[in-house]
Amino acid sequence: MKRIGILTAGGDTPALNATIAGAVERANQLRIEVFGLIKGFSGLLNPEVPHVHLNPLFQVIPELDAARGGTILGASRDYVASDDRETIERVVERLNRLGVEGLICVGGDGTLNGMQALCDYLPAVLAPKTIDNDLGLNYPDESTEFVREPDESSTKGFRDAKRPERPFELEEMVNFATPGFATSVFVSAQNVQRIRTTAESHRRVAIIEVMGRDCGMIALGTAFGQPDMILVPEVPVIPEAVVTRVLEILDRQKHAVLVVSEGIKDAQGNNFGAVRQTKDPAGNLQYSGAAEAVKQILVEHIGDAFFTRKRRNESADAAIFCRKIGHTQRGGRPIRFDRYQASQLGGESVDLLVEGRHNHMAT
Ligand code: F6P
Repeated sequence: MKRIGILTAGGDTPALNATIAGAVERANQLRIEVFGLIKGFSGLLNPEVPHVHLNPLFQVIPELDAARGGTILGASRDYVASDDRETIERVVERLNRLGVEGLICVGGDGTLNGMQALCDYLPAVLAPKTIDNDLGLNYPDESTEFVREPDESSTKGFRDAKRPERPFELEEMVNFATPGFATSVFVSAQNVQRIRTTAESHRRVAIIEVMGRDCGMIALGTAFGQPDMILVPEVPVIPEAVVTRVLEILDRQKHAVLVVSEGIKDAQGNNFGAVRQTKDPAGNLQYSGAAEAVKQILVEHIGDAFFTRKRRNESADAAIFCRKIGHTQRGGRPIRFDRYQASQLGGESVDLLVEGRHNHMAT
């Protein structure tokens, strides 16, 4: 193999450049050229979008700083669908024109599907990344190969390898942490610790919302910041139980810090934030979000009287505050663990391509 391509797709994470740098370093050792493909799969569809030679003379370009957050290549959430032959052919043609003999896709589950779509035409592998830590190995035997299961009910004739076949044990999830996750947990846990001092000083209830989509791993990780309660999508939210617990906490320490995952669900499996929608004056639905939805429940059930009595005339609405940590969880420098792991996986991806283990994920 003389030349490979690498692209980053999906939402950014702090460790993407570390993965790219790890791949380039390994490629340098093996005397393989690496072309950086700009803006994920969407860049490949636009002939105007150039590529970057990441290791001319097998030296990594100085612009590639493994400790820098984001991705030097840019990313997009446009993926190639497995049944979109025309797009697949355009992508493959572009890669052929570049002389790319193998492709490393750095990404999460959306990227995995995009990579799979190309696998029949070109050697491709996945270097995993996602702050959500929701990218499971598909098979209990821990094979890293994504085998398409036949599925006659699908128009494609097979089922995309997407989610784990069985729920993961916590230990397994922790052992296989996807790059970006550790930094995200670090940032979130630090936020929890910092917000506590305000909650404590003003005797308030802080509700902190973290990302993660339908996976509660980031929220669980904030346990390092010692919140009083964590709500995750995997366990349905029972409003009465949350209220009872918050009252117990307030009774004990006069303030409370709650962490809620953005994807928490009610007992029927509906998104908790989405079902508690309100209408603005124009009648448009307003999506409150998970933290706001939990606040609404506390305001309703605990009420102003409780807070006015105990907290210097503050209403429930003022005494309970919400903070979304938001994109700071995905931004900035990676912590050392992420950086190290990401660069290892980048190197491993090159090895998978060279060894002919295509349609695999580096682990
Ligand atoms: O998948 C990563 C993630 O950060 C999720 O946790 C979050 O729900 C989503 O992406 C937000 O995406 P964006 O910032 O691209 O809108």
